Amino acid sequence: MFEQARTESQFSEHEIKRFMARLKDLPTLPVIVTRIMQIAKDEKSSAKDLGRMIAKDQSISSRILRLANSAFYGYSRTITSIPQAVVVLGFETVKSLALSASVFDVLGRSDSRFFDREKFWLHSIGCAKACELLAKQVRYPDPETAFLAGLLHDIGKVVLDRIFPEEYQQVANSIREASRPIVEVEKEVLLGVGHDDVGFWLGQHWKFPPLLLESIHHHHHPEDSEPHGILLASLVHVGDSITRKVGIGSGGDPLVPNIRLNSRKILNLDDDALLVLSMNLSKERANIEEFLQVLG
Ligand SMILES: [Fe+2]
Ligand SMILES: [Fe+2]
Repeated sequence: MFEQARTESQFSEHEIKRFMARLKDLPTLPVIVTRIMQIAKDEKSSAKDLGRMIAKDQSISSRILRLANSAFYGYSRTITSIPQAVVVLGFETVKSLALSASVFDVLGRSDSRFFDREKFWLHSIGCAKACELLAKQVRYPDPETAFLAGLLHDIGKVVLDRIFPEEYQQVANSIREASRPIVEVEKEVLLGVGHDDVGFWLGQHWKFPPLLLESIHHHHHPEDSEPHGILLASLVHVGDSITRKVGIGSGGDPLVPNIRLNSRKILNLDDDALLVLSMNLSKERANIEEFLQVLG
């Protein structure tokens, strides 16, 4: 029997503990991520501090440089060092890239029992790009955070697939039999818990900033977000739907969710604005594929 989606307060303490206990089995994010977030929060820290911190991690630095020089960013001059990347791409972009590379290291490569990990990451990177484009289109002041929010919005799916593989196999089978929104099927199979909840819990466990947590938790229903997070959650909601519409990667089911009226209103989006976003995102397809190749 389908159980309606419940808010966090409706989960029993036992259920939350059961999930949290399993989340603790997941690797922690590398220390460098916590440091980068601290640097980003500290107004006294400079671009140089960030550059120095990232440069200590060879694997992350080399991928940031390759990403910085990829068509995704489209700079004509070659970027040869992290400090230069910080100057050319900006503090926030380099921070986002470092976090993207770290999250990918922890969750990206492992094989999935059922879902196509490559299509999942293409959907995530596509949504990240859609969110960044939309942020610029509606003059949201922080397009880099929009990028990161888009990249991580469905991260709970990877977690569910890892910690509840049998149940997630069941989710996949149900969707194969009849196209239904993945989050609806998850909540049915996993007693009301969906990838939005699990992504939120993982984000808490990994100490993501509150704004990012809100957008992960409420990307399907941005109006449930705390007032400070509603804009970003709406951006991700729209980005998710447009990425599915344009057909980049796979969100786990073949449906294109309707954009909620509230999100259209809050972002002041008419049909033309959505069409512009779709067209701009379509042009990025090859760059998005390249981005995944460099990340992996
Ligand atoms: Fe989702
Ligand atoms: Fe999604």
